[in-house]
Amino acid sequence: MLNFEVINPTRIVFGKEQLNRLPELVGEFSPSKKIMLAYGGGSIEKTGLLTNLLNALAGFEVVLFGGIEANPQYATLMKGVALAQEKQIDFMLAVGGGSVIDGVKFMTGAFYYEGEAWDVLDRKPGCDFLKAVPFGTVLTLPATGSEANSGAVISRAETKEKRAMGGPLFFPKFSFCDPSLIATLPKRQLANGITDAFMHTLEQYITYPTDNLLQERQAEGILLTLIEIAEKVIENPADYRLASNLMWSATHALNGNLRCGVPTDWGTHMIGHELTAIYGIDHARTLAIIAPRLYENQFETKKEKLAQYGKRVWNLTGSDEEIAHEAIRQTEAFFNRLGIETKIHNYSTDTDSIATEIKKRFEDRSWLTMGERGAITPTHVAQIVTAAI
Ligand code: NZQ
Ligand code: ZN
Repeated sequence: MLNFEVINPTRIVFGKEQLNRLPELVGEFSPSKKIMLAYGGGSIEKTGLLTNLLNALAGFEVVLFGGIEANPQYATLMKGVALAQEKQIDFMLAVGGGSVIDGVKFMTGAFYYEGEAWDVLDRKPGCDFLKAVPFGTVLTLPATGSEANSGAVISRAETKEKRAMGGPLFFPKFSFCDPSLIATLPKRQLANGITDAFMHTLEQYITYPTDNLLQERQAEGILLTLIEIAEKVIENPADYRLASNLMWSATHALNGNLRCGVPTDWGTHMIGHELTAIYGIDHARTLAIIAPRLYENQFETKKEKLAQYGKRVWNLTGSDEEIAHEAIRQTEAFFNRLGIETKIHNYSTDTDSIATEIKKRFEDRSWLTMGERGAITPTHVAQIVTAAI
């Protein structure tokens, strides 16, 4: 087992009809009782959640900031930062999926940052968020695990970039995870959520064998749970049994637990983010496009874990080599069954320069050795993207 250190201070309030707990928890972190409630494109207005939240928060002055888009945009978020500064709020509440929660994480850091906050995302030397406004979340889409981790991913349309940030300052103080809220999710977002959670698990599992029996079985437990419920929850997200298992699986897939004592890859995510930045493809779909091709490209370095995955998760038989190949096929077929296309040409025909463009981006950022063994170079990235077209 590899050495590790882990902390996760986020309080999870899981279950239905828990909003009566909201004023108490917000009050713990907001002495001025002046807070910003941030949300996305309006689904929470339509579902009535916003009204319920405002009723629950009747004792607070609530500044509303809506319009955070999927793949939250830097320019939009900087408007939120200006509003928060003007109104002098001391707490932010993110209500939505990964995009709103990530957007809020960024805004809490940018609130105190003097200078161009993009420099932090750009990893310019000496540029960092040193202080953040405390924040909590109300999760409406199980997918990213952002409700229980300290990472965020922010996009910038002008330069077609998507960059990650994070650190201990960016754990939510609390997250309300109410599975009944997913009943209003469109099928496409449910499929995306399942795929993202599945891929978070694989990124921390399809590496090389370790003797960390517990973490490997926890990963397999999440994968098996997602496979068991996936198609049923897409058909019936109002089924609380299915919804609660999806929500808890997605939180566990990226709350920091699975990475304890094991190597991690994240190459699929790094390449996938470029496909979102360039084409606007939904995050989860980029992962379904890249992962099968990355596993084929890196087959020799990953085949032992692919075989373990094939046996324990897909119940495959045969030689280890055959099982490992079939496990990749089963994974892609699973995404396809959820209605997710796994080739770039399904989303765009403008593919002539995509492989060289992404390779160049990785070279320019000196991202030269990725994956659990540092074996994925920009040349491999170009091969993977070419195979994914
Ligand atoms: O914006 P509204 O109108 O609210 O609609 C949203 C949005 O259009 C809708 N939606 C959310 N909850 C709903 C609902 N519609 C009806 N009923 C509900 N209960 O769903 C759409 C997609 O929402 P979004 O937040 O964009 O989806 P997701 O949660 O998949 O988040 C994706 C973002 O998270 C980042 C991705 O890169 C992407 O930007 N990620 C964040 C991570 C993290 N912080 O740890 C890790 C991930 O790997 C990922 O990179
Ligand atoms: Zn993801």
